[in-house]
Amino acid sequence: MLLKPLLAAFGAAVLVTSQALAQAPIVIKFSHVVAPDTPKGQAAERFKLLAEKATGGRVKVQVYPNSNLYKDKEELEALQLGAVQMLAPSLAKFGPLGVKEFEVFDLPYIFPNKTALYNVTEGPIGKGLLKKLEAKGITGLAYWDNGFKVMSANRLLRVPADFKGLKMRIQSSKVLDAQMRALGAIPQSLAFSEAYLALQTGVVDGTENPPSNMYTQKMHEVQAHLTVSNHGYLGYAVIVNKKFWDGLPADIRRQLEGAMKEATTYEKAIAQRDNDMALEAIRRSGKTQLYNLSAHEQALWRNALLPVQKQVEERIGKDLIQAINRETAK
Ligand code: LMR
Repeated sequence: MLLKPLLAAFGAAVLVTSQALAQAPIVIKFSHVVAPDTPKGQAAERFKLLAEKATGGRVKVQVYPNSNLYKDKEELEALQLGAVQMLAPSLAKFGPLGVKEFEVFDLPYIFPNKTALYNVTEGPIGKGLLKKLEAKGITGLAYWDNGFKVMSANRLLRVPADFKGLKMRIQSSKVLDAQMRALGAIPQSLAFSEAYLALQTGVVDGTENPPSNMYTQKMHEVQAHLTVSNHGYLGYAVIVNKKFWDGLPADIRRQLEGAMKEATTYEKAIAQRDNDMALEAIRRSGKTQLYNLSAHEQALWRNALLPVQKQVEERIGKDLIQAINRETAK
């Protein structure tokens, strides 16, 4: 007698639990290393809004900025393990993953302007590079933009000789290592979250980054000089754990792809604006001396840095470098 109501109660409990589980939102943990008020930080929040709206709340996006969840190196490992579902690392940070070709984006002066850059990222070259990530259990969704980099140090950087013996913080890229050596500096690869303290304490003498990162990390406050060199580019690839992405219901994946497309358009629209505003804010802060290179000094930097292409062609691939040079020459 007693068994029947018990079984009914148990059946009801199982049903409620499975319905609750079925209705529980799919969670996307989106970890990144920069401040929220940067192009990437704002676009991550925009993606969250768009994704949650497009899926009617069936997906919840949790954004973790400022290396709060994982630092540079750890975040890629965490993505492969499925501990986080989405990242947008700098294109300079895929070497340790074994996809060295992305370091082509670090080559000094390889992109004369943003139009040339977008022709590469939005064209077959860019798509082909994202495809290479699949062998690592990662799916590439989009390229996000930051901008052209400036150089800073506790010494005025006008000509390549001014870099002699300076310890310069770089991202974990062999191309950036070669770039700093070509200037006579000593490269030091450090996680982004460690850059400010290393500059403040003198562990390193200088660094490079787009103005939006320099400003939001207050690096300009611990650097006496900043040269507006635009010598290289920093951008991102938005990536997801492939197993997670392939395992999503088809309608959800389509809605998320739509949200990512819109967030990417937004991200590109704010990137240059934010970097221009950051540079102006750095200037107005009076905390560091801004210096613009003369045409002659620009030519000296180019002469010193363009040979890096040859030095790293074996690592990155001669064909890839030539394909990008052809594309950007159009
Ligand atoms: C850096 O490490 O300097 C940058 O890659 C940080 C970022 O994600 O913009």
